[in-house]
Amino acid sequence: MKLLKVYSRASAPTKIILFGEHFVVYEKPAILAAIEKRIYSSINIRNDNNINLNINNIHEEIDIDNISLLKDQGFTNLTHPLFIVIYDTLMRFNARFGLNVKIDSEVPFGSGLGTSAAVSASLITTIFNLFGMFDKEEIFSLTLNAEKLIHNNPSGADPAISISGGLIIFRKYNDNKMIIPLEYDKELEFMIVYSGEERITGKIVDNVRSMKDKNPQLFEIFANKSEEITQDAIQALKNKDYSLVGKLMTKNHELLNRLGVSSQTLNRLVEHALNNGALGAKLTGAGGGGSIIVLFNADDRNRLLEAFKGNKIFVTKISNNGIRIE
Ligand code: MEV
Repeated sequence: MKLLKVYSRASAPTKIILFGEHFVVYEKPAILAAIEKRIYSSINIRNDNNINLNINNIHEEIDIDNISLLKDQGFTNLTHPLFIVIYDTLMRFNARFGLNVKIDSEVPFGSGLGTSAAVSASLITTIFNLFGMFDKEEIFSLTLNAEKLIHNNPSGADPAISISGGLIIFRKYNDNKMIIPLEYDKELEFMIVYSGEERITGKIVDNVRSMKDKNPQLFEIFANKSEEITQDAIQALKNKDYSLVGKLMTKNHELLNRLGVSSQTLNRLVEHALNNGALGAKLTGAGGGGSIIVLFNADDRNRLLEAFKGNKIFVTKISNNGIRIE
């Protein structure tokens, strides 16, 4: 493949999961939305074979041949799995050259907003762009491989929404996926409240798997409940019945709490949102920390902003923009 550029920049949106997280790993449906906060990747080609990665206070340079060696050893000596993502994407083009890579995120990493998939999707898109390529299916499969470095059995929901943008129903079937875009209200807003607790997605996903192995009957009851809530939410979203969407979000949070993926802080934040006029609130993503999302009537916006004055928050609409060349 012919190299067409020496510099490239691309971005991908972060996301919220409105319904169905965790159970989506076990082939139940989920509803996800891309949000207006994005992650940007910039790269330029170097004259040597070094990959220089600049992300979130990590500034490290490794020779590309060393990445290949360390990868074979299970990458335990690499500070960041992104080196593998870069290496694998370059190998897709049989390219062996050095890169300066800079990643900028509009949200903190580990905030439960799909930053890991968005980083990989934006970075892979940036490298594809060097060769004049923009193949969403291929970018999806490389992003999914990148997610596998972070946890063993990703559903693919996070890469899918980051690449497509908008509001989607996502469902995994064996090695396949189903993505159905949903119409959405362009004015619809969500408040995102950070818990300040960072968590490791892979660990929480592993905990859920242990729970499933120990108590498969209970897990199945939970999984069916999640599917029922998600199906009801699809109808409620289509009918623009946001009061019902909110109630279902809170119900979904209670279910995730029973699954064991919430935390005291997350429960307290959800409670606080509901006490201050929210239509509904829930944890989003893997849980165990990260963020909650809050749905509200425009009339209650200021009251909620005031109620969460002491927390790190932002209000966002759904973003139609998936991966994008900048
Ligand atoms: C993480 O954002 C969402 C989970 O459902 C894991 C996954 O879908 O791969 C917890």
